[in-house]
Amino acid sequence: AVYQATTSAPVNIACIKYWGKRDTTLILPTNSSLSVTLSQDHLRSTTTSRADPAFTETKLWLNGKEEDIKSGGRLERCLKELKKMRKERIEDKEPNAPKLSEWNIHVASYNNFPTAAGLASSASGFAALTSSIAALYGLNTFPSSSSAKPSIASPSELSLVARLGSGSACRSLFGGFVAWEAGSLPSGTDSLAVEVAPQSHWPTMHALICVVNDAKKGTSSTSGMQRTVDTSALLQHRIKHVVPQRMEAIIKAIKEKDFDSFAKITMADSNQFHAVALDTAPPIFYMNDVSRSIISIIEELNRVSLEKTGHLLAAYTFDAGPNAVIYTEEKNVKQIIEIIVRYFPQAESNPFPDPFKLFGGKQ
Ligand code: DP6
Repeated sequence: AVYQATTSAPVNIACIKYWGKRDTTLILPTNSSLSVTLSQDHLRSTTTSRADPAFTETKLWLNGKEEDIKSGGRLERCLKELKKMRKERIEDKEPNAPKLSEWNIHVASYNNFPTAAGLASSASGFAALTSSIAALYGLNTFPSSSSAKPSIASPSELSLVARLGSGSACRSLFGGFVAWEAGSLPSGTDSLAVEVAPQSHWPTMHALICVVNDAKKGTSSTSGMQRTVDTSALLQHRIKHVVPQRMEAIIKAIKEKDFDSFAKITMADSNQFHAVALDTAPPIFYMNDVSRSIISIIEELNRVSLEKTGHLLAAYTFDAGPNAVIYTEEKNVKQIIEIIVRYFPQAESNPFPDPFKLFGGKQ
């Protein structure tokens, strides 16, 4: 028999940024974070995993190219946890269950977006890897005894595993609006993702992805955030006095579908994240001139909109690179795209259908 499973996970874009680890091996963050998971049809990773007693080693392919598996690395840590779950929750209880946890596996993962686009692929990648192996191991199915029981491993439990691969990956195991609770236990068992609201709660929320530069970024998130932890005094202020209040306020804004508050907090947190990067020694610059002009355009649009309607139009946010993500409600999508295209005539629409337009603007 061949044991095989294929699953997909989408990209998520943080409104409250994760930046800093208190434990670099277990990937435990210095603060909670919150993101919006993009819809499945757009930017996603799809992973197939297969278990076979004949496999002599564990192998991994990314976009068709075989990768080295680092001993003691992130993939191994995820796999070890999933094997443990399989053994303890299924094989030790059901003597007839095949001992998949003792077999090697082969894993192949594809992104449906250009890896070169500089868009976070580790989040969707490790989320898809975790859910695919969980499906292979029968962890996210109902126990045979009663279909009314919850699955053997809940999405939050699986988020603990995805987190070991890449912090932001834990949030991609849920759709919609997702919080990663920092937790406080040294073991990390309380550092997991929870659903704040499903996508259906606020279906008019859209994310526009503006690819400002599709080159690979200079400073990786992993090394950049550790340098910030080691050198930035501003980060300590952010962790203690800013993020906790913002988490509470943005969760309230999402529950109430209050776009103005959501937008204000999202923009403020993107800006503080980049301020913390600048407060790092040596400083880290992720945004460039195009990024900054996108900020100016959105700020100006919001100023005019506030004057005319009393409401904000859009919110920008930037991760560890120059690309902008603009959150806006459905009714404004067309207008925002028109304005961006007017400022950046070289911006072109890409193959992704609405609502996730991708602009391949060159500087
Ligand atoms: C700026 O999750 O890529 O996108 O845990 O080291 O793999 P590792 O880092 P990663 O960092 C993401 C940083 C961010 C903010 C966010 O997604 O919250």
